[in-house]
Amino acid sequence: MTTAEVRQKFLDFYASKGHTILPSAPLVPENDPTTLFTSSGMQPLVPYLLGQPHPGGKRLANAQKSVRTGDIDEIGDNRHLTFFEMLGNWSLGDYFKQEQLPWVYEFLTKELKLDPERLWVTCFEGDEALGIPKDTESADIWKSLGIPEERIHFYDAKKNWWSRSGTPEHMPAGEPGGPDSEVFFEFTDVTHTAAFGETCHPNCDCGRFMEIGNSVFMEYIKKEDGSFAKLAQRNVDFGGGLERLAAATLNTDDVFVTDAFWPMIEKLQSVSGKTYADDPKPFRIIADHIRAATELIAQGVLPGNVERGYVVRRLLRRAVRVCDTLGVQEGLHAVTAVPEILREEEQFRKTLERGIKELARFAVGGSLSAQDAFQLFTTYGFPIELIAEEAGTRGIKQIDMEGFKELLKQHQALSRAGSEQKFKGGLADNSEKTTRLHTAHHLLLKALQQVLGGHVHQRGSNITQERLRIDFSHPEKVTKEQLAEIEKIVNEKIQEDLPVVRTEMPLEEAEKLGAEHEFGAKYPARVSVYSVGPLDSAFSIEFCGGPHVTHTGELSTGGVFKILKEEAVAQGIRRIKAVLE
Ligand code: ALA
Repeated sequence: MTTAEVRQKFLDFYASKGHTILPSAPLVPENDPTTLFTSSGMQPLVPYLLGQPHPGGKRLANAQKSVRTGDIDEIGDNRHLTFFEMLGNWSLGDYFKQEQLPWVYEFLTKELKLDPERLWVTCFEGDEALGIPKDTESADIWKSLGIPEERIHFYDAKKNWWSRSGTPEHMPAGEPGGPDSEVFFEFTDVTHTAAFGETCHPNCDCGRFMEIGNSVFMEYIKKEDGSFAKLAQRNVDFGGGLERLAAATLNTDDVFVTDAFWPMIEKLQSVSGKTYADDPKPFRIIADHIRAATELIAQGVLPGNVERGYVVRRLLRRAVRVCDTLGVQEGLHAVTAVPEILREEEQFRKTLERGIKELARFAVGGSLSAQDAFQLFTTYGFPIELIAEEAGTRGIKQIDMEGFKELLKQHQALSRAGSEQKFKGGLADNSEKTTRLHTAHHLLLKALQQVLGGHVHQRGSNITQERLRIDFSHPEKVTKEQLAEIEKIVNEKIQEDLPVVRTEMPLEEAEKLGAEHEFGAKYPARVSVYSVGPLDSAFSIEFCGGPHVTHTGELSTGGVFKILKEEAVAQGIRRIKAVLE
C-alpha cells in the first residue's frame, strides 16, 4: 500500500470507532518552549491527557507530522527517519486496554492485511519499587486475540514504559506516562546471529523485528517527591510510524522503498549512475534529510545558526556532502527545486571553499594540529573525513586524529548538557513552581505593554522551576524606573488575587478580543485562551494551552515578583529574567 492509503485507512478506521480526526499540529510546538519540534502525536495533547476537556471529545485520532533529531548522524539504516508521520489515536479517560488492543489488532490484520502469524507483542513486566504491577491484562487480551504465549514478551521500563522524557527516573514532576504494549512485525527471512545475543526476541537488533505500533496506557503522573500517582483519568496514547506500516504492507523492512522516498531515490540513481541496492546508505541519508528539511522549511523553519534553524542547516549540509560522495554533478539541484535549499547549498559550497583555503594556510610544514582541524570542523562544518581527504591532496601527511577526537568528545558533551537543560528547564515540567511562574509570565507581558507600549510582543520564552525568561520586541534598553514600574504592576495584580480563567472559543473571536499571539505561531479554528481576570474585564488575555494557577494570589506563596536581569538578545529584541522570591 502507499503511505496515503495506509493513512486514510487508519483515519477511517478510527472515525468509524467514534474518534474525532484532528489536523496535524505544527512541527514547531505551540506554547511549549521546552522542545524544538513536535516529535510525537501526544505532544500537543498533554494538557488534555492531564484532564483538560478537549473540544473534539474523548476519542481523538490523527496523522501527526513529527521530527526527531536525537540521532541525525545515525540516519542511514533501513528504518530510522528524521521526519516521519505518526498515526495516533487517543482515549482521554474513555476506553482502555480492552478496546485498544483488539482495535490495533483489527486494524493491522483486517485493514492493512498484515499476516497475524508475523505479529509479536511486548508488555510491561512491572516495577515493584514504583508500585506498578506487571501488565498481565494486556498479555491476556493479546492471547484472547490469538497471539500465542511465545510471541508475547515482557520487558522492564527501558523498553515498555513511555513518557516524553523516557523512563520513570528521567521524568520531571508533573509529567504523565505509563506502561506500554508494542507490536512488532517479523521478517522471517532474517537469520539471527550470535553477534546480537544468544537468543532472539522482539527488541533484538538483528533486524528480524520492526516495531510498528505502541499503545501507551498513560494513567500515571510523577509527583514532586519522585513517586507515582494515578491520573484522574486513564488515557490511551497510541503511535504507529506511517512509513514503517506502509513498508510492512509491502513485506519489506526498508521504509525507503515506500512511495514516501522511492521517487527521490530513483532520481538519485539515474543522475549518479549508482544503484541503491549496491550501497543504500547515501541514498537514504539524502532522501531523509531533504524530505525533513523540505517539511521544516514549509513550516517556516529556515536554515540558520541556532536551535531549529541549525537543525535544518545540519541536515542540508550533510545532504550536500553525501550527494558529493555519490558524484552527482548537479548536487541537490538534481533532486529538489526548493529555493531555500538551493540557496543553502550555494552558501555552503562557498563556505567549503573558504575552509579549504584555511586548511592550506594552517597546514604549513606538512602537519595539521588537533586544534586547527577542530576549528575547520566548527567554523566551516568540515567533517574529519573531508579534512583528511583535502589534507591528502595538499601533501599534508600528519593530522592529530586522537587530539581531534578528544576535542570533539568534549564539544559533544557540552552540547548534550545544553539540550538536557533545555528540556528540564521548561514548561513540560508541570510542577507548581513552574506553573506559578507561567502565570507570572502572562502578568509580566501585559505589564511590559502597559509601561513600554503596545509594540511589545513576546518573541520567545522559557520557564523553569527557578525563573522565567521572556524575549520581547522593544528597540532600546528598559530603564531602571520602567523596570521598577513593571515589577510594581505585576505585584499589584498578584495582591488583587484575580481569577485565571481558561476559555475555548473560535480563533476569530479570540483575535477580536485582542488575545496575545505567539509570534509566527499558527492556530487551529478553535483555540484555548487564558485571561487574568474575568474575560470581559481582563487584565491580560493570551492564546495559551496552560497550565496556570486558578488565582493570581497563589503566586505569593512563591514570594514577591522580582526582575533579575534585562538585556539585549538581538536587534530590537530584549530579554528579561525574573523570579518569585
Ligand atoms: N507517544 C507514544 C510514542 O511516541 C505512542 O511512541
